[in-house]
Amino acid sequence: MMNYFYVPLLILAFFSLTQAEKHEIEYGIEDISGPFVKYTVHIVNAITPKPGSPILQFHCQSNDDDLGVKFPKPGEDFNWSFRENLIGSTLFFCSFNRGQQSASFDVFNHDLDDQCKQCYWLVKEDGFYFSDSTKLYQKRYNWK
Ligand SMILES: *[C@@H]1O[C@H](CO)[C@@H](O)[C@H](O)[C@H]1NC(C)=O
Repeated sequence: MMNYFYVPLLILAFFSLTQAEKHEIEYGIEDISGPFVKYTVHIVNAITPKPGSPILQFHCQSNDDDLGVKFPKPGEDFNWSFRENLIGSTLFFCSFNRGQQSASFDVFNHDLDDQCKQCYWLVKEDGFYFSDSTKLYQKRYNWK
């Protein structure tokens, strides 16, 4: 015989297990609903195109989500949205490549002080610039 005391606990446990790991990822203007704060990360190819200059590619992942390898055109804004998971440990990292240059860092880290709802990264010839609005960019990383 089922003890009804456990039903809410079972539902909560099931919800945690299914929600805590993977994020529901949306691209562009699609709207994901849910009880947690929604974040959007933008990665903008701001490299001035020149004939023969190496193309940019990047690969973004969380521990549980793989967004695939991207080849953004100059000026293109690759963006995705997600909601914080129950355990609040969301972290997305990307590795970038351009010719002989590479870089790899966290583009969204829930545990950082400077959290953003709209997180913008500009990829330029000389490195990577971050902004939590579209206005003030600060250089954060260099190519290696
Ligand atoms: C975000 O990505 C979508 C494609 O998924 C694109 O149509 C849109 O322009 C991008 N957002 C911005 C602000 O450029």
